[in-house]
Amino acid sequence: MTAIDHSSVRDPNVLRADMVRALREQDGIKSEPVAAAFAAVPRHRFAPDAPLELAYDLHRTVPVKKDEHGLDISVMSAAHLQAVMLEQAGVEPGMKVLEIGSGGVNAAYLQELVGPEGEVTTVDIDGDIIDRARQCLDDAGYTKVKTVLADGETGVPDGAPYDRVIVTAAAWDIPPSWISGLTKTGRLVVPLTVCGTTRSIAFDRDRDGLISRSYSLAHFVPMQGEGAAEERKVMLREGVAVQTDDVRVPLNAQALNHALDTPRLERWSGAAYDLPDELELFLTLSLPSPARLHAAKDVVGRGLVEASALYGVPALVREDSIAYRTRRANDDTGGFESGVIAHGPQAEDLADQYADLLRRWAKDHRRRGAATFRYLPGPAPSPLPQGAVLKRHGIVTASWN
Ligand SMILES: C[S@@+](CC[C@H](N)C(=O)[O-])C[C@H]1O[C@@H](n2cnc3c(N)ncnc32)[C@H](O)[C@@H]1O
Repeated sequence: MTAIDHSSVRDPNVLRADMVRALREQDGIKSEPVAAAFAAVPRHRFAPDAPLELAYDLHRTVPVKKDEHGLDISVMSAAHLQAVMLEQAGVEPGMKVLEIGSGGVNAAYLQELVGPEGEVTTVDIDGDIIDRARQCLDDAGYTKVKTVLADGETGVPDGAPYDRVIVTAAAWDIPPSWISGLTKTGRLVVPLTVCGTTRSIAFDRDRDGLISRSYSLAHFVPMQGEGAAEERKVMLREGVAVQTDDVRVPLNAQALNHALDTPRLERWSGAAYDLPDELELFLTLSLPSPARLHAAKDVVGRGLVEASALYGVPALVREDSIAYRTRRANDDTGGFESGVIAHGPQAEDLADQYADLLRRWAKDHRRRGAATFRYLPGPAPSPLPQGAVLKRHGIVTASWN
């Protein structure tokens, strides 16, 4: 990979050329049109208060607005993630595109991709952000991009149908307007949060619903307004939390905290552990009452909870018991073996169920290719099919060949 010495390079044109080269090397940019868009847009003009190096950094975001707790509610997304999503979108000259979540720079890339015959509309729920985006777009010469102040939950019906809808805030669900606002051959690219993990998923239409073409892990600020996340989170004790977006999962903080003080049960699956993101997806969709266990560094350091919970780990939860995944080195399984830690009166039962899933993954799905996501709008079937996650406007499923 080309090493870039930023200390001696302060010319934005040089930084931009370096960024495009590095994005190609890191598989962010894969096509010539996206490369040309990234080479054309003066990215730093959309982050006028940020150091040039930050504006052109591949993986860092530029803060734009924070909430009263100091958490980001608007950022200029990282260049690598923008490139990945634009490649997923497959935008072509002449298309009509809606971006939900504004900032300016991504809308400028979109305008480059659709060209003079195409149309780009960008909508944001926040008046400060949309004013800022308008000003940056005008300053950089992208006066044709339309800016709209509204909750993107209802789309922007005035310009519909769109060939592409690109969402740039983490969405908990897919509201009907995003599907009905697409042309028949339209595509929706959305960072969709399923059981606590967000993936940028490119969906094409599939009868009344959607089917995925590609997906990639992504991190985004959360969607606000009508579509804000429906998640429950309880603190068991300082540094340990359990979170779920499944209404059927019981979250009794006191009983689960008590469970953590009972002796741990360790169960090893005998199955290989790797590709954690895919395994995690399989687990969250297959566990009968899925949640995520999160533990802070010092809690892990004290040995109360395994390191797998540092960034959140799929957990199987009952009223008074909890089980979650761990791993250990094992040459017989090709490096690592997956296992389960369980606590509470029902630990045996939970550990058995969890370990069975770990074995099923290794036997039937591991290293057999990516999953296919489907979104089926409308009332959920009862009972909910195995491997489906209930959302407000429909269900999400994922399956492996
Ligand atoms: C990551 S920023 C967008 C980055 C931007 N696309 C860029 O060019 O870098 C996410 C934006 O989504 C906006 N947002 C959050 N919820 C929204 C909603 N319901 N409708 C429209 N915009 C929303 C936020 O105000 C924020 O500005």
